[in-house]
Amino acid sequence: MTLSSHEEGTTMTDGVGAECHGLHWTENAYCEHATLFYEVDVSIYEDSELTSHEVDMAFKAIEAVGHTPRGTILDLACGTGRHAYEFAYRGMQVVGLDMSAAWLSIAARRTDSQRSNPHPRISLIEGDMRSLPFSTRAFRQISLLGNGFGYFSDAENAMILKEIARILDRRGVFVFDLTDCERYIRSFAPYSQREVETRTFGNVICAYWREWQPERRRMSVRERYTDARGQVLYDAPYDVRQYTLGELRELLANVGFRSVEIQPMNQTKKREGLMRNRIMVVATR
Ligand SMILES: C[S@@+](CC[C@H](N)C(=O)[O-])C[C@H]1O[C@@H](n2cnc3c(N)ncnc32)[C@H](O)[C@@H]1O
Repeated sequence: MTLSSHEEGTTMTDGVGAECHGLHWTENAYCEHATLFYEVDVSIYEDSELTSHEVDMAFKAIEAVGHTPRGTILDLACGTGRHAYEFAYRGMQVVGLDMSAAWLSIAARRTDSQRSNPHPRISLIEGDMRSLPFSTRAFRQISLLGNGFGYFSDAENAMILKEIARILDRRGVFVFDLTDCERYIRSFAPYSQREVETRTFGNVICAYWREWQPERRRMSVRERYTDARGQVLYDAPYDVRQYTLGELRELLANVGFRSVEIQPMNQTKKREGLMRNRIMVVATR
């Protein structure tokens, strides 16, 4: 099985991110196949212990730079709203932004029978984090949690940070998590192609192939989902840019962040792929 020529209309990686039938992989996955992707990763999106742990880690990182998380937070790429709700349960006002209307509608229906409904403290907005629909210095706190950075070309990834810096108030904080690339890539021989996992989620059988592309510093992944009868439900690539700590510091400094602190994230349970070893980064304006 090769990674490069598996389906007409699908290109693996062309220097600006994997595409499928003219759609960027993020649109293909999170918009075109929103329900399927939610079902496959429901064990992440509905894991309240994981979400609470991630928010604990984000708060800890924010507090470590002398900032108290309170007031309003913008939760970028909020998806199905798990962190947005956790922030609201902890008393914050939340603006959640995501490009997937389908996932935002899951977020809008989210409830937790154990806790009081935090809806009045949450507003959800459909938008693109490459061009944020907010005025300069609009927020004191911004989060981007659940491995939501590095999906685009290098220039677009830098643009996202520039946009975040633009809408962040003086002394505001931006907290985000991402794969600890230096730990992750050690286990990948360049251009090795191997089937890392085949797993079943509900009625969906998922196969993943991962390839580390050192010259592009991208983890390139092909995902193929089939149903019990062998019918292909989804077969497409994606790639995520992996930034070293040095690169991250430079990128953040270039768009005006004064300080950058990095903390390891311990896990609540064993995770695979890009979720395996993550770090929490907090950058101060
Ligand atoms: C891995 S999911 C994480 C979702 C959520 N943060 C979580 O951890 O549950 C990535 C999210 O990024 C969103 N996304 C991808 N590209 C985006 C963009 N350009 N602007 C806004 N959201 C985007 C997707 O729709 C998806 O909800």
